[in-house]
Amino acid sequence: MKHRAKQHVYLLGASGRLGNVLLEAWSHHPEIESIIPLGRKEIDFTNPSVAQKKFSSYELHENDLVINCVALTDVDYCERESLEATTINATTPALLAEVCAKRRARFLQVSTDYVFDGTLDQLYRETDEPAPLNQYGSSKLAGEKGVMASSPDHLIARISWVFGPGCPSLVDQIIQEAMTSKEVSSAADRIASPSFTRDLVEWFKFFLNPSLEGGIYHLCNTGVCSWHEYGTYVLKRAAHYGLPVLTTEITPVNLYSMKQFVTRRPLRTPLDTSKFCERSGLPLRPWQEAVEEYLLKYKL
Ligand SMILES: NC(=O)c1ccc[n+]([C@@H]2O[C@H](COP(=O)([O-])OP(=O)(O)OC[C@H]3O[C@@H](n4cnc5c(N)ncnc54)[C@H](OP(=O)(O)O)[C@@H]3O)[C@@H](O)[C@H]2O)c1
Repeated sequence: MKHRAKQHVYLLGASGRLGNVLLEAWSHHPEIESIIPLGRKEIDFTNPSVAQKKFSSYELHENDLVINCVALTDVDYCERESLEATTINATTPALLAEVCAKRRARFLQVSTDYVFDGTLDQLYRETDEPAPLNQYGSSKLAGEKGVMASSPDHLIARISWVFGPGCPSLVDQIIQEAMTSKEVSSAADRIASPSFTRDLVEWFKFFLNPSLEGGIYHLCNTGVCSWHEYGTYVLKRAAHYGLPVLTTEITPVNLYSMKQFVTRRPLRTPLDTSKFCERSGLPLRPWQEAVEEYLLKYKL
């Protein structure tokens, strides 16, 4: 068998919620030569042509993997600043993916369930038609299309409701709220699946396989829940482990009655992960197990 040189992995967005865990977990990964984080200082996504030029100066080789965790993820901010959202979430990733295509390296664009409008009554498959409801979703969809236009070998990983160490998410916010107030509410009609970053970065190793077919892959923990069910589970387990929460009861409300969410969001976006599971042979685990591990490792 022909000896294959170990791959280099370039990581864009290593300071973010997903990026920080990926960097830590892959730093001693035996299958790769090295993981090279490129932060805003090295590649600033706000100027696409400058970003492309700087990115071209890196020594990218055939089969190297570039993972893009950079994004403008603040949905309300994206709605106000749609041009900036398009630049960072779509224009720059597409230009960087072009550089990768020329060097026969792969570009993995991390994307989101927000590309869907949330009206389907079943799990979303990769083949379902996207129809974003807001600028964040539109810019992420434009990013997917721009990346795939430069090479069919590139990869899109759509994930949802990310939580994990390093950057606070719904899990941390709901615990924080319940530690200071007995009145906690959450949407019972916003439905999808949580994704634990520690799990995602293990599953992402499958994307190192150079013979893997390019295209879109849906990836998240198994099981579907509402924000209300997710938050209630978190508080009950937090109380079980002795965290000083004042309540484990959450008032169910409708998403559109929650004043802090100004921008329209899709209501029901659970992802079907069977394509990833079939091709990788990897078992995904239920979101409740992942929450349990997060609480035990990072919150106690
Ligand atoms: N969070 C979720 O629940 C969720 C759900 C579904 C999909 N996703 C997707 O998952 C991916 C990672 O999300 P995340 O939650 O880890 O994001 P995040 O925590 O908001 O991190 C965003 C990253 O982008 C970088 N960044 C922002 N603007 C930049 C610029 N102009 N130039 C260079 N870097 C810039 C940030 O760097 P600085 O530290 O320098 O600002 C940070 O490293 C994104 O593609 C997102 O769309 C996230």
